[in-house]
Amino acid sequence: MKKKELDELKSECLECKKCPLGETRINIVFSDGNPETARAILIGEAPGENEDKTGTPFVGRAGKLLNEFLEKAGISREKDLYIINTVKCRPPKNRVPTDNEKKACEKFLLKQIEIINPKILIFCGATALKSFFDKKIPISKIRGEVLELEIGGEKRKCIPIFHPSYLLRYHSLEEGSPRYLMLEDLKKIKELLN
Ligand code: URA
Repeated sequence: MKKKELDELKSECLECKKCPLGETRINIVFSDGNPETARAILIGEAPGENEDKTGTPFVGRAGKLLNEFLEKAGISREKDLYIINTVKCRPPKNRVPTDNEKKACEKFLLKQIEIINPKILIFCGATALKSFFDKKIPISKIRGEVLELEIGGEKRKCIPIFHPSYLLRYHSLEEGSPRYLMLEDLKKIKELLN
């Protein structure tokens, strides 16, 4: 059972003080979604204030916008996705996590990917993309492309998409706008999951 393995991993994570974020967190933000039914893992940047308070990823403004887009694309957050971040603890003042913080957390993230063994990894935003893809291509140029990357010793299908925080700044749904492209990318993911 995936759940049992993940529960054991979470217990280990709860004790983790391998980086300074472990000293300032309220909660670890381990995951959301159903590990038994999820066919994609969505990887965000890092927990924010609301996530730190609740222990659940993507529950603030960006999370609510993400939910709206997932619904429009016909992707179920509860059934189709397992949601995590590049780090499990909130960086102070929501700064971008450092390479050392991401490295300290990598073991948990890779183990989660191994246990879930998803059909697709979704890199949600530039921080998640850069954690796995070290070429200097901006997310705006590579979003929506299916990449084959070796992660944790396995070749995996990965798709970068915009981060919903970025979409909070652009409201247009016109063809070619960030929100339009986000919906296109999520619809493509929905098809790949079928
Ligand atoms: N932004 C993220 O990248 N992850 C969260 O969990 C919340 C906001």
